[in-house]
Amino acid sequence: MTTAPSDRRAILKGALGGVLCVGSALGTPLGHGPAMAAAPRKIPFGAAVRGDALAADAAYGAALADRCRLLVPEGGLKWPVLRPNRETFDFGEADRIAAFARRNGLGLRGHTLAWYGGMPAWAEAITSPVEAEWVLTSHIETVVSRYRGFIGSWDVVNEPMPDNPASPQDLRRFVWTKTLGAEYIPIAFKAAHAADPAARLVLNEYDIEYVGPRFAQRRAGILAIARSLLDRGIPIHAIGLQAHLFADRELDRDGLQSFLREIKAMKLDVLVTELDVIDAGLPTDFATRDAIVAKKAADFLQAVDEVTPPSAVLTWGITDRYTWVPIYFTRSDGTANRPLPLDSDLRPKPLMNVIERFTGSAS
Ligand code: G3I
Repeated sequence: MTTAPSDRRAILKGALGGVLCVGSALGTPLGHGPAMAAAPRKIPFGAAVRGDALAADAAYGAALADRCRLLVPEGGLKWPVLRPNRETFDFGEADRIAAFARRNGLGLRGHTLAWYGGMPAWAEAITSPVEAEWVLTSHIETVVSRYRGFIGSWDVVNEPMPDNPASPQDLRRFVWTKTLGAEYIPIAFKAAHAADPAARLVLNEYDIEYVGPRFAQRRAGILAIARSLLDRGIPIHAIGLQAHLFADRELDRDGLQSFLREIKAMKLDVLVTELDVIDAGLPTDFATRDAIVAKKAADFLQAVDEVTPPSAVLTWGITDRYTWVPIYFTRSDGTANRPLPLDSDLRPKPLMNVIERFTGSAS
């Protein structure tokens, strides 16, 4: 990718600031004069980045800078990293990633402000609602303000739905629901908006794209949360589809598309925030496996695009060298997982081609 940093910033400003600025399917095209109508679409592509790998692996950094227009810290903005204890904010990793993004003319997304995953023990031990609201809002105020004007979009609430919701109103049990109930969600969105009124605020969720009642229930839950925020006039701008796709699960095209139509009717944007394809059950052969992975992602992206083109597409990592997938989905044949656009030697795989074609970043 050869786009100059200043051009990248202009594209991002539009996409993440809510002004769709990209190709024919997305409204105002990029380009100049009469040739504009023919301009290719440009959806910002980005990837999650690991701070430790960025510091140690120059080739990894170069691949990110070359391929991406935006980054998101994979762990650097999470509570266990930022908040080792009640008194401390440790911005070291997040600041290093932000500096890398700035140096390379890349945008940055924020992940995440309210999530059950890996909450530090001191926070998980809170029982008083008053203290909970103070800790949650002061955290959000401090973190969002620090990157005001640079982080253009935040995953404010991540994964609010339980894996198997009993109803669309069911929420995951963790410190904020135990102390504040469902109200933790509007509290978090209001605090993020107060800290950076220009930031795009995202409700992010996984496992919403498959066939089956559990996935339908999760979609209904996300829609209910978004509707309730909008009805109360609380700022929310987008739904994030994590899209940790299982290669061997059947996509529910109809279910996904009617979900997206509801989101569109609410005038919310859609982002693909954590795309990768879990290949644990696929054949050993790399070419076969990579083709199935690419096809799964293409089918998903196309289903989304037919209803509402995403304002950004991010993969959860850029290279198979650094991926969360083996934490939960190691392969029984002993070979490494291949869920991401570049292989472990940073060579592009068919998934990279799918994404480049989809986003218009192929030249
Ligand atoms: O950095 C240490 C390393 O020093 C140590 O040797 C090693 C031993 O276990 O652990 C390393 O840290 C791990 C880190 O990933 C590496 O990046 C943590 O234990 C592990 O908990 C952490 O997992 C992350 C997980 O979220 C929990 O925060 C994954 O990287 C990250 O990809 C994953 O991301 C989530 C999204 O936030 C939300 N959506 C699902 C997605 C995948 O699970």
